[in-house]
Amino acid sequence: MKPEDAQSVAPLLCPEAVEALLDWYAANRRELPWRGTADPYRIWISEIMLQQTRVEAVKPYYARFLAELPDVAALAAVPEQRLMKLWEGLGYYSRARNLQKAAKTVMERYGGQIPADEAALRSLCGVGDYTAGAIASIAFGIRAPAVDGNVLRVLARFCGSYDDIARQETKKKWSEALRSSIPADAGSFTQAMIEIGATVCVPNGEARCGVCPLAPWCVAAREQLTGVLPVRSGKKPRRVEELTVLLIRDGARTALHRRPSKGLLAGLYELPNLPGHLTQDELPDAVRALGFEPLRVRRIEDARHIFTHVEWHMIAYTVQIAPEFDGARLGAGMLLVDNGELRARYAVPSAFSAYTKYLS
Ligand code: ADE
Repeated sequence: MKPEDAQSVAPLLCPEAVEALLDWYAANRRELPWRGTADPYRIWISEIMLQQTRVEAVKPYYARFLAELPDVAALAAVPEQRLMKLWEGLGYYSRARNLQKAAKTVMERYGGQIPADEAALRSLCGVGDYTAGAIASIAFGIRAPAVDGNVLRVLARFCGSYDDIARQETKKKWSEALRSSIPADAGSFTQAMIEIGATVCVPNGEARCGVCPLAPWCVAAREQLTGVLPVRSGKKPRRVEELTVLLIRDGARTALHRRPSKGLLAGLYELPNLPGHLTQDELPDAVRALGFEPLRVRRIEDARHIFTHVEWHMIAYTVQIAPEFDGARLGAGMLLVDNGELRARYAVPSAFSAYTKYLS
């Protein structure tokens, strides 16, 4: 069945399937820190953190973030650098910036109350169709669909659809098709769909149809198509960038560079780096061009970091500079920071995590 057919005929999931799903969820749900709360702020933070990050990785960040920023007002007011520090290691920092922009909007436009309305939620910075549906249904019990990649996989298999789930149109169609299946307990339904996708209807042909409450109605389970469905068109290969990373330090201080305010890792502090893989002979002049006077240079290990669209292939050097170096001629955005200060206050993206052990 195609989503467009589903829209005009019976609900995507018949009432018996919905009931079986909700019963299964009540008995099998994982206890997660953002479950068992109806606080829209907490649910919003959890959904944004979970967008690109695994549940286990999110847990400690979630606790720390909420301990320091327990409500919308606190998030709207926190200094940017502190916000980045709370997000350090989670990656995709634009999520944190968007959260703060949206918090400011909620303060100004909605008197600090997160709106109980799907369209109003959707208008907040960083809140797309999925997140608006998740907050609306989980926090406010609104019958709103929340269809992310995992839920798309469940639906494509359930209906035996070969539509390409990488396409935005497919996602939109499934979202609308799902709407009429959502029961009164919309929050449990959303979480149950997410849970089935995460723990039972898992990717790569490893679906556990034997324990799935939806199996009696599922086309892919019946026809053994879980290895084939869903169909997802290939992504563009990532661009590879070669970088030479520099740990420039004098024992007490380390050089950092502030990235431009637009683009990848916008506005974050990074270890200074140069395009290409520089040889040890090329290094002293390159380091002088950044405004430092190198005393000793040593090659350390290589590292890679994978972003959504780019892959960094890094080689790296430690560069010893004199303790009396005054930093008078440092290039734009370059600074020398006391090591203790660096650890406490500066968020260095995890792209550099192979090298943070050198920052002591
Ligand atoms: N992934 C996205 N949202 C989630 C949630 N509420 N619980 C578990 N995993 C999720």
